[in-house]
Amino acid sequence: MKKIELIDLAAQYRAYQKEFDAAIGAVCARASFIMGPEVAELERALAAHCGAAHCVTCANGTDALVLALRALGIGTGDEVITSTFSFIATAEAIATVGAKPVFVDIEPDTYLIDAAQIEDKITKKTRAIIPVSLYGQCPDLDAVNAIAAKYKLTVIEDAAQSFGARYGNGKSCAITRIATTSFFPAKPLGCYGDGGAVFTDDAAIAEKLSSLRLHGQSKRYYHRDIGMNSRLDTLQAAVLLVKLRHFDDEIASRQEVARRYDELLMKLPLTRPTVRDGRLSVWAQYAVRVKDRDIVAQELKEAGIATAVHYPLPLHLQEVFAPLGHRPGSLPVAEEAARTVLSLPMSAFVTAEDQKKVAKTLATKL
Ligand SMILES: Cc1ncc(COP(=O)(O)O)c(C=O)c1O
Repeated sequence: MKKIELIDLAAQYRAYQKEFDAAIGAVCARASFIMGPEVAELERALAAHCGAAHCVTCANGTDALVLALRALGIGTGDEVITSTFSFIATAEAIATVGAKPVFVDIEPDTYLIDAAQIEDKITKKTRAIIPVSLYGQCPDLDAVNAIAAKYKLTVIEDAAQSFGARYGNGKSCAITRIATTSFFPAKPLGCYGDGGAVFTDDAAIAEKLSSLRLHGQSKRYYHRDIGMNSRLDTLQAAVLLVKLRHFDDEIASRQEVARRYDELLMKLPLTRPTVRDGRLSVWAQYAVRVKDRDIVAQELKEAGIATAVHYPLPLHLQEVFAPLGHRPGSLPVAEEAARTVLSLPMSAFVTAEDQKKVAKTLATKL
């Protein structure tokens, strides 16, 4: 039985293998493993791709969030508002700098932060809002930016899943004051290990980020801040430069895969994902909602089809945040989503045949 992977990274490697091998070989031959020329080249290319003035790469998407918060001087005693329906890293980064994560519920159809609920959560301690561009689609960033402007807060887009997405005339990572992304291998633009980046139009923030990721140095061996060791490896930059050359074609293929799923699943008793007008998702996940989700997932697994649940427990109910005192039922839309969402195989390399098998299997199990 042929297995259908959730994300077929091996197929992608085979497709561009010669380019990968040459790019990786060049870094090894030069032995420029730390801050080699590919890193700066990639930063210029990523900034140009999304339209931000500056890109500062770093070791992973979690560090990218920590670096952004620290560059803004956010720490102990501060509050940061974010969506409860995200990967732990979003809230973890807030807590890591000593601030308190304040959770907001989501829209039921997009799973993105419900901007209408943000204002109620603002206090004198609020410093920033982190909207999360979950599953590859930006939330209502115009609304979030407007609230932030009214209360003099900073917006940091957590774009770990959305680099390449479109929002109106702009692109994810260039709509808010700061944005962060992740190059974890499974992301739409992923490397061959961990990687991340921060984007901003603000030259002073970019300079601060560059220093913080290098032990807070002002120049070599001179340090003005307690920083981090959070560089992107040259090898990862080389891999990403190859993938970036094919990225727009892959985004187009992902639209095609999503459109085919929409067609194939139209008549089944499940809820398909929604993308708002004026936005383009990069489809980090194609997540449907089904009843008896765990049973359906198990049956798909037995038929050789990999699925995943992003995410089974919202952040406000995670054990680590128990001291914040949230109870089940406090953010009900996210809690219901966590019980029913199921991510289907999605990448630029999913074939129409694979998708037919997914739809056929789902049809017999629902
Ligand atoms: C929404 C979100 N934020 C942050 C991260 C953290 O990125 P990383 O795994 O590169 O640290 C991820 C990815 O894992 C994510 O999905």
